[in-house]
Amino acid sequence: MRAAGRVVAEMHECIRGAIRPGVTTAELDRVARDVLERRGAGSNFLGYRGYPAVICASVNNEVVHGIPGARVLAEGDIIGIDCGAVVDGWHGDAAFTAAVGEVSPDARRLIAAAEEALAAAIAQMRSGRHVGDVSHAIEVVADAAGYGVADGYGGHGIGRAMHEAPDVPCRGTPGRGPRLEVGVVLAIEPMLLGGGGDDTLELDDGWTVVTADGSLAAHVEHTVVVTDHGPEILTEGSGR
Ligand code: MF3
Ligand code: CO
Repeated sequence: MRAAGRVVAEMHECIRGAIRPGVTTAELDRVARDVLERRGAGSNFLGYRGYPAVICASVNNEVVHGIPGARVLAEGDIIGIDCGAVVDGWHGDAAFTAAVGEVSPDARRLIAAAEEALAAAIAQMRSGRHVGDVSHAIEVVADAAGYGVADGYGGHGIGRAMHEAPDVPCRGTPGRGPRLEVGVVLAIEPMLLGGGGDDTLELDDGWTVVTADGSLAAHVEHTVVVTDHGPEILTEGSGR
């Protein structure tokens, strides 16, 4: 899984470098495909329940599962990029949200809160903690900042498949849920909604999830393993 995680980190790095006003989300998908090809890795997104791309690109009020296409990014947009890779049958999955050029202070604050929620959740990835502790950590950061979390969506176990048990919702009760042990791997994915509510809608394309109130959303995700010395993030670049 470390090898798959490294490929995902490289996809993120290359896509981050390509995000600018004027680029289309389809071009970002191309960048990701090139990395997969260069590394001889497979895509776990392409063909998943018929999904047509290797990344999800979710702009502004889109929360997750935006399909890349002809949309041109504009200065002031925020974009969530989610992608994964498969190496030797092992899966990695991670997401980030980035500013396109200069964005509003509100947008910057939302992205920072999503990153803070992810860091807080990752800190709970210790033997003896429970999935409810991970979920609760996300909720605490979102609540304190006045943001909602996407109801009905969340993280998941990951390994030989992209989606394994358990579910990792963005709200939870401390001490509840499956117990974490050394070797457990979770894809943890806070989805913060700027309007403060938890409600989302799915568009007619059958994929794109948007905030019900039209507010901005920020999605971030890492694949993380519980080790005997604490959490290890598998989808983070090491060479920086
Ligand atoms: N990484 C996404 C998740 O775990 C998977 C997206 S499914 C796809 O929620 F079909 F869009 F790839
Ligand atoms: Co995921």
